[in-house]
Amino acid sequence: MPRPAPVAVALDAPDLDTAANWAALVTPYVSTVKIGLELYLRYGPDVVATVRGASGVEVFLDLKLHDIPNTVAGAARAVSRLRPEIITVHAAGGTDMIKAAVESAPTAMVAGVTLLTSIGEGDLAALGVPGTVSDAVRRMAALAVAAGARGLVCSPQEVTAVRAEVGEDIVLITPGIRPSGADSNDQARVATPEEAIKAGADLLVIGRPITRAADPGAAAAAIAATLRRAAGGRRGLARTAVQEVVIGHTGIKRCLRPEMCSA
Ligand code: C5P
Repeated sequence: MPRPAPVAVALDAPDLDTAANWAALVTPYVSTVKIGLELYLRYGPDVVATVRGASGVEVFLDLKLHDIPNTVAGAARAVSRLRPEIITVHAAGGTDMIKAAVESAPTAMVAGVTLLTSIGEGDLAALGVPGTVSDAVRRMAALAVAAGARGLVCSPQEVTAVRAEVGEDIVLITPGIRPSGADSNDQARVATPEEAIKAGADLLVIGRPITRAADPGAAAAAIAATLRRAAGGRRGLARTAVQEVVIGHTGIKRCLRPEMCSA
C-alpha cells in the first residue's frame, strides 16, 4: 500500500456515524481528516476519538479560534487534550492571540487562517482595511508566522505569494480543491490537486469531491494516485521541497508530503 497522500478530507457530515464512516473509508489513502466547527459543536470532544478510530489518521481540528489571548489560550489547552495534529486560529486575532494558542497547544501544529476566501475587496474596504486581498493575505501570513504559527491556511491561488513571504518551512494548507471535471459547488476560486501541489501547497483540504462521491474510498484513492503522479513528474523539485515538520503527539518529525518523503 503506498503512503497516504497529503490530503485532509473535510468531514462536513450531518451526523457522527456518517463522519466516522467517511473517515474509515478514506483513511487508507489520505494522511488527515478535518473536523469542522459544525460537527464539533454538535458532538463535542468525542468526535475526535470517533473519527480517528483505530487507524491513527491525523486529525485537523478546524475550529478557527478567535478571541482575546487568555480565552484562546484556555480553548487551545482544552482541545490540545484531544491530541489533534493541527488546530486553526484566525490570524486576524493578532500576535498575542496566536502566541497564546501556540504556547497552550504545544503538541499540535497551530495554523493561522490568513483571510477567509469568502472575504472580497469590497469587504476589506467596508472593514477599513487598506490594500488588496492579496496584500492582506501576505500581511496576515507574515504576522501569524512571526507569532509562532507553523502552518497557514490560504487559497491555492495565494500559495505562491504566501510561500515567497514565509519560506519553505511553513506548512501551507489549501481548501478550494477540485479535481478537473468536478463540480465547483460554492467554491469560487478553485485549483486541481496537481495545480495546488505544484504551486507549493503541503496539505490539500478536500471535502465534497470525496465525501459526496458514490464511493468515497475510491475517490480518495484516485486523488492520491494523481498526486503521486504529479510528485513523480517533478522529482528534483520534490526532493528539495519536502516539508518535514514536528507534528503529532509523538513529537517526532513526520512528513506532510508523504509521497515526496520516501528517500
Ligand atoms: O467540500 P469542500 O471541498 O468545498 O470543503 C472544503 C472545506 O474547507 C470545508 O470544510 C470548508 O469549511 C473549508 N474551508 C474552505 N475555505 C476556506 C477555509 C476552509 O472551503 N477559506
